[in-house]
Amino acid sequence: MTFESHEYDVIVVGAGGAGLRAAIEASRQGAKTAIICKSLLGKAHTVMAEGGAAAALGNADDRDGWKVHFKDTMKGGKYLNNWRMAQIHAQESADRIRELEQWGAVFDRTPKGLINQRNFGGHTYPRLAHVGDSTGLEIIRTLQEKGIHSGVDIFMEYTVSHLLQNDDGTCTGCVAYNRVDGAMHAFSSKSVILATGGITRCWSVCSGSWEYTGDGHALALNAGAELIDMEFVQFHPTGMVWPPSVRGILVTEGVRGEGGVLKNSEGVRFMFDNVPDMFKGDHAESEEESNEWVRQVVAGEIATVRRPPELLTRDVVAKAINKEVAEGRGSTHGGAYLDIASQRSPEEIISKLPSMHHQFKELAGVDITKEPMEVGPTAHYVMGGVRVDAETQESTVAGLFAAGEVASGLHGANRLGGNSLSDLIVFGKRAGEFAAKRATEVEQPQLDNADIDAAIAANLAPLAREGGENPGKVYDELRDMMQEKVGIIRKEAELESALEDLKEFATRVGKTNPGSSMIYNSGWHQVMDLTNMVEISTACALAALTRTESRGGHTREDHPEPDNGMWSHTTNVIRKIDGDIVINQEELIQPPAELEELLDRVKKED
Ligand code: FUM
Repeated sequence: MTFESHEYDVIVVGAGGAGLRAAIEASRQGAKTAIICKSLLGKAHTVMAEGGAAAALGNADDRDGWKVHFKDTMKGGKYLNNWRMAQIHAQESADRIRELEQWGAVFDRTPKGLINQRNFGGHTYPRLAHVGDSTGLEIIRTLQEKGIHSGVDIFMEYTVSHLLQNDDGTCTGCVAYNRVDGAMHAFSSKSVILATGGITRCWSVCSGSWEYTGDGHALALNAGAELIDMEFVQFHPTGMVWPPSVRGILVTEGVRGEGGVLKNSEGVRFMFDNVPDMFKGDHAESEEESNEWVRQVVAGEIATVRRPPELLTRDVVAKAINKEVAEGRGSTHGGAYLDIASQRSPEEIISKLPSMHHQFKELAGVDITKEPMEVGPTAHYVMGGVRVDAETQESTVAGLFAAGEVASGLHGANRLGGNSLSDLIVFGKRAGEFAAKRATEVEQPQLDNADIDAAIAANLAPLAREGGENPGKVYDELRDMMQEKVGIIRKEAELESALEDLKEFATRVGKTNPGSSMIYNSGWHQVMDLTNMVEISTACALAALTRTESRGGHTREDHPEPDNGMWSHTTNVIRKIDGDIVINQEELIQPPAELEELLDRVKKED
């Protein structure tokens, strides 16, 4: 076995939007910085945020501003958001978008040559800066270009298996292995930033890329950090449902933002009947009003009528589709019909949604300029993650930072589409800045060889096993179980059963046999992923069982209503104590009076 050690000021784990932005910032601040990423550089789930990055630039509608963005984010999150993160995000995202433009991102333009902005669910005004329907891809391309010219070292196709800590728990670095040749590496680092993204590979129908196995969540948990909001998983309403080989692949909300409508098998636009009280009055109440909105948007006018109900928040739309299917009005393959062809010309569809046009043609044989798409909910995003300080992104473990999807707080119980791309660049920058600042204040950590040896021994252990199951089989069964028992609609008995199953999965994972090779051994990598998936699925199921109500991305069939007495101001906090995952509740800190005033609390109780 080959072994190497390295020293850095700042290590960033992950090379999606948050990781790249953090590394650029840390390096700009003078820190010796490296990115360690599981995949090839440029391949990240960030590309699955297709429709745009939300920022109150006010280019497409000058009524927009940070205060409206703040209010929309809090309302979409059912007021469980960390108010300070929501404020920082709303205030700083416009600057971060303009910065990307300066770095070469080629955003779509308004007729006046400004960055164009499109409508998305839950956003009062057109707010999503976009590049057709490939915005995440363009952001990654831009950041990658900037990053590689910023002096950042890149360790590609490495998995970080352990965080290293000194006696008082401070994070001092990490151990990683090279996925290509199995070589082990130890990194001493004054700050470590987790930017590992999410957990959605724990569900069998998901939009997440293969890396999305909750690695950063598990690393943080095992280092003693706190996770919050783990019950809140976003099922994006529109994933592909047919053919089975592509089930779950994202169909951007941009389709609805450009006027696409949802219909059931009876041809009814069912979203008109699914407007929660909290959003009553915000949306068009007739097809005529909705059609007028589309006309105004197409004409490039400032909308004077209300948005179609298809632009309700994702939690609402996903549950409405689920209900249509459950009540026998689903599409041929168990979803709903998403129709843009009746709303926009073929030329407009191809110009605004080129990737969707290509995706459906190539993968499903459907021409979206002529026919509707079949769509249904897909696990897309986890609102829960590492608890961080709003200003610095430092976790509850000194020296350990988190940014992007692996961090929690900004989105509360439900994230608005487009807020994740701006989250990545706003809080990625902050994490890089404060991690670099910390690096100027502390000594280079001396690593403990015994800790490194123990981490390496744990990594090598699966390769020495005899007998045992193939990890791929356990992986598939775990994901099916989570889909069935911890999916979009949950109930007590199933959640309890999931927790029992997860104990068995933990035992099975510990006995899986990936073979003995260290070279390109995907089975070995899968064992590592599975270990994290079981831990994080347990955190999610436990939080879901504990929250005995329905709110945002968490729906309980046995507690279908929000419980405002208890849960409208309460956060679930997960920790690991003596090897066990435990949960407790904390009162949420409320916004100060001047921000409270901006919120539409009158209707909050719905
Ligand atoms: O639908 C989408 O384009 C996804 C965007 C997001 O998750 O923010």
